[in-house]
Amino acid sequence: MVCDDSLRAVDVQALELEAKKAISAASSSEELDAARVFYLGRNAVLPQALRKIRDRDKGRILNETRRNLAEAFEIRREEIAREELERRLSEEVVDVTLPGVSIAPGHLHLITQIRREIEDIFLGLGYEVIDGREVETTYYNFTALNMPTWHPARSPLASLYLNEETVLRTETSPAQIHTMEDRDPPIYMVSLGRVYRRDTPDSTHVPIFHQVEGLAVDEGITLADLKGTLRYVMRSLFGEKRDIRFRTHYFPFTEPSIEPDVSCFLCEGSGCGVCRHSGWIEMGGAGLVDPKLYEFVGYEPSRYSGFAFGLGLERIAMLRHGLPDLRQLWENDLRLLRQF
Ligand code: DAH
Repeated sequence: MVCDDSLRAVDVQALELEAKKAISAASSSEELDAARVFYLGRNAVLPQALRKIRDRDKGRILNETRRNLAEAFEIRREEIAREELERRLSEEVVDVTLPGVSIAPGHLHLITQIRREIEDIFLGLGYEVIDGREVETTYYNFTALNMPTWHPARSPLASLYLNEETVLRTETSPAQIHTMEDRDPPIYMVSLGRVYRRDTPDSTHVPIFHQVEGLAVDEGITLADLKGTLRYVMRSLFGEKRDIRFRTHYFPFTEPSIEPDVSCFLCEGSGCGVCRHSGWIEMGGAGLVDPKLYEFVGYEPSRYSGFAFGLGLERIAMLRHGLPDLRQLWENDLRLLRQF
């Protein structure tokens, strides 16, 4: 095809015919666009010829042809758009009555819930929550807690050693020493976390479990403060009607040492399987801080006194929910976890 005045009438007719065929053959907007560029685009034969033409009549014919083609393109464009819409509407059927896809959000593990609950109780009492270390030196885990070299907990048969002086902490009590080393009284702190012991798993033992450690050191602290604090905590955890009692005991880092019992919340003290018909449930260990510890951290024993306690979080979970087997808390069976 020639691009100037010499574009003859027959050529124009042939061009128009050819373009119209291409228009009706186009079956998608992409194909139609391509055809439009080919026949009416800047560099196409017809517009080029129009730009150069001088002859009036020929110019009129070319213009008319261009208008016809532009109109044909427009009509086909609308047709194709309608066809494409129909196709999408029939292919992409949406059942608006289908229920939505719900995302399972998950929730905190029971032990984490209890941990946060206890942290909240103590924060409410003005205590600080302190992070401890899960990997400890034997100094912090045993020596500074006044445990003699022959203490059975120091045995590699009882505790998990990483090397001679490094052990996975067997209790949260080392946090007491770190806190007292770091600052002077008054101290009111709790520290919660995992502890490790070389125990064979059974229904009441797992080698990794959780404790909450508490420490209060100030001037004039007595056993009565310990009792009042533990009673408040037990009532927060197990209900307003709970009472507590102390039984004497021995821990190397407290003097005197006691074991607190809480009155049974299942039988209200009259006797049941959970409290072994005693009306009381053992809750952990506690006592007044042994002044020997103050020597390790450089406190004046004549000036300060304090109390400390340690409770097991798994035990609280078991008692509260009647869990028959501690190992269940590690199995991650959703049928169990979803209940809490
Ligand atoms: N650390 C002891 C244990 O794991 C529990 C304990 C007893 C902690 C008495 C204390 C305490 O702070 O005063 O068996």
